[in-house]
Amino acid sequence: MALLDVTGLTKSYGPLRALDGVDLTVRAGTFHGLIGPNGSGKSTLLKAIAGAHFPTGGTIRFDGADVTTAPPFQRARLGLSLKFQITAVLPELSVYDNVLLALQAHDRTIDLLRSRSRARLAPRIMDALDRFRLADRADDLAGELSHGEQQWLEIAMALAPEPKLLLLDEPTGGMSPEERRVTGELLAPIKASCALIIVEHDLDFIKNICDRLTVLDQGRVLGDGTTDEIENDPRVREIYTSRV
Ligand SMILES: Nc1ncnc2c1ncn2[C@@H]1O[C@H](COP(=O)(O)OP(=O)(O)OP(=O)(O)O)[C@@H](O)[C@H]1O
Ligand SMILES: [Mg+2]
Repeated sequence: MALLDVTGLTKSYGPLRALDGVDLTVRAGTFHGLIGPNGSGKSTLLKAIAGAHFPTGGTIRFDGADVTTAPPFQRARLGLSLKFQITAVLPELSVYDNVLLALQAHDRTIDLLRSRSRARLAPRIMDALDRFRLADRADDLAGELSHGEQQWLEIAMALAPEPKLLLLDEPTGGMSPEERRVTGELLAPIKASCALIIVEHDLDFIKNICDRLTVLDQGRVLGDGTTDEIENDPRVREIYTSRV
């Protein structure tokens, strides 16, 4: 059974169809790339999957449950985690406290009432930071991190609650080529426990880390297949050589 099954998803903004009958299937243990020109609906699709907004039509099933209109916190508890296109770390807090907050926001209120202690969460926080090369920056303010490190911190925050599916919207935006390469290296090991949908404009980056790709164009699925199949699809080549 697929971990995520999106069927016939539509999202309208007034007369504009940002998503127009999108199907998307993601299996556990796979890295799935979402590509397409600006305005093709990539962020709109991720937001609908995470519950940041509701679709106009279609269904979203996650881990066997229909979550089409479930609120974001319920999806998060089922194991969905999203990092938006815009950076959301709190610069005035320490790197450590940013991950602590992410975990506390995810934990059930009842758990928080039982134990608010930082000590209980410390191993999980340090593990999340360690995975993204931030353990020795734990006490620094998040605002002191480089742009690339802030992106890594956000991914660490999204992964700390141990989701089954992580959604990343352009996580390497503004990164140097070297930071981008390292990001691929840091993401690879999470495949053992977590599937990934990643939006990226850099085709070389996405080809290196993804098993499958879905191409969106004007809110529709233009192609879906293995990275090799998509790379050799003439319609995709046309979009990428003439419009991106
Ligand atoms: N809140 C909104 N209200 C109205 N229109 C919107 C809204 N959000 C997105 N759109 C429109 O929906 C379409 C899809 O936008 P979306 O942000 O999903 O594209 P994208 O593929 O993520 O683009 P990019 O690569 O530039 O990030 C665009 O035409 C956009 O202008
Ligand atoms: Mg976008």
